[in-house]
Amino acid sequence: MTYLTVYTDGDAPDALLRTEDGAEIATALKEVGVRLRHWPTVEGLDDAGPEEILNAYREEVARVVAEEGYTFVDVAQLRPDDSPDWPERSRAARAKFLAEHTHDDDEVRFFAGGSGIFYLHIDGKVHAVLCEAGDLLSVPAGTTHWFDMGTRPDFTAIRFFHDDDGWVGDFTGDPIASRIPDFDTITAGRAQG
Ligand SMILES: [Fe+2]
Repeated sequence: MTYLTVYTDGDAPDALLRTEDGAEIATALKEVGVRLRHWPTVEGLDDAGPEEILNAYREEVARVVAEEGYTFVDVAQLRPDDSPDWPERSRAARAKFLAEHTHDDDEVRFFAGGSGIFYLHIDGKVHAVLCEAGDLLSVPAGTTHWFDMGTRPDFTAIRFFHDDDGWVGDFTGDPIASRIPDFDTITAGRAQG
């Protein structure tokens, strides 16, 4: 289930809103031009690889591709494992988009499993959208944002692109991401209620 926290973006950010209410989240995101949709989740995909994931959601994927003109779809997947390189691999993956940036393309992600937080910095506020299985988030091109997968990344996401030139981030240099509670903090706080 999606969990939204909205913060002020000053030196000492305040939480203005915390909610799991679907309608409330949809309204808050619509106000900042971000679209969140939900697909029914397919069960039994815990150990599925990219092809199986894309196949399981092929109808929904085809519909979004047709409606919104995406030309490239893939699966980004990170699951904790016991390999010696996991700590470094997960640290590097988390660090990649953990600072505020923009893209020339929309950032569209469907979470087939696991979770991650998109932080959308728009109009003096930060909307921290914790996405979980079934969530399809569309961040418009040019939106200042960052993404935190936590210190123990675990997610499977279908990604939609308008071109396959690779995914480039233009970093703003604004250190705001370091002032806003991170994935581990938000998920721990949510668990405590
Ligand atoms: Fe991004």
